[in-house]
Amino acid sequence: MNAPINRIFVNDVALRDGFQIEPVFIPTEKKISLINALSLTGLSKIEVTSFTSPTAIPALADAEAVMEGIERAPGVIYTVLVPNMRGAHRALRSHADELNLVMSVSETHNISNLRMHRNQSFAQLAEVVNYARTTKVLINVSLSCSFGCPMEGEVPKDEVLHWAGQFVDLGVDGITLCDTTGMAYPSQVSKLCAAFGTHFNQTELTLHFHNTRGMGLANVLSAIDAGVRRFDASLGGLGGCPYAPGATGNICTEDMVHMLELMSFDTGVDLNALLACARHLPHIVGHEVPGQIAKAGKITDLHVPPSWFEEVASRAKEKERSGYS
Ligand code: COA
Ligand code: ZN
Repeated sequence: MNAPINRIFVNDVALRDGFQIEPVFIPTEKKISLINALSLTGLSKIEVTSFTSPTAIPALADAEAVMEGIERAPGVIYTVLVPNMRGAHRALRSHADELNLVMSVSETHNISNLRMHRNQSFAQLAEVVNYARTTKVLINVSLSCSFGCPMEGEVPKDEVLHWAGQFVDLGVDGITLCDTTGMAYPSQVSKLCAAFGTHFNQTELTLHFHNTRGMGLANVLSAIDAGVRRFDASLGGLGGCPYAPGATGNICTEDMVHMLELMSFDTGVDLNALLACARHLPHIVGHEVPGQIAKAGKITDLHVPPSWFEEVASRAKEKERSGYS
């Protein structure tokens, strides 16, 4: 059944995109309790960890223990990032609901991040897809640098569509176009989304924005106008790829949900429960996080007027009565 037009599906990626770049290792039990709390907020999907090389991403070296320890809420898809066959086997042994396969559409970023040429990544991931399709696991592919590469610059639209098409032909369930270092801008987003929809209208499209240059939520609105209904976002706005120069946080989940609710979209998320998680996050990571709404409050969280308000108001009334203005 098709979802209503105002339904937006949110995948929180803080545990993977956010924690992968944290300089201090976050203890496994803290990761597990955060995932358990997020599981009760109504998110559609949670990217809980990555099955990458522990040398490449030491912050997520406890992937198996995290998967083992979490309490899964019905209806939530627990997805994990996978760069190669070894990662796929580990993820399947941990009963991930979805494999989020990753490669970059930029040759330079793919070599920096995954130590392979794009063709080598594709060959490995094609093997993973063929193997995973014999199981029930969902398969998504995240294409890094789809809106530009911090080392190569612009990545042509046709190049992005070419790699997306390669995976669509293999029969994956979804594609995520990732703006790895916040280079996307709204008019570019609408063009790429429209082109994707024209070529691959049977494949679920998710967008993954970073707010590195302050364009994140503007890009979300542009994508919604182009018909996209699935977004990655990160609690507190944490995030960043350690192998992409200049990478900073994802768009912030609670800020996005707050905006979309005001605009009458249905995210399925209990914003107050999400804000409780966001307000606890600085205690977990040991520093401030970029998210705005956890600090400023929702627009409905009103402030009391200053203590001298009544006195000044009655003086103003008095002036009005005496005809002085
Ligand atoms: N899980 C665990 N260990 C893995 C692994 C996986 N998925 N893939 C490879 N390894 C191990 C190998 O066994 C080998 O271990 P050893 O040194 O003890 O023998 C080591 O990692 C190197 O293996 P190799 O195949 O030579 O990989 P590499 O060094 O060329 O690195 C990747 C390739 C893809 C494994 C690595 O670059 C990676 O994990 N990158 C992830 C980057 C990432 O997550 N970036 C942020 C998200 S976009
Ligand atoms: Zn990212």
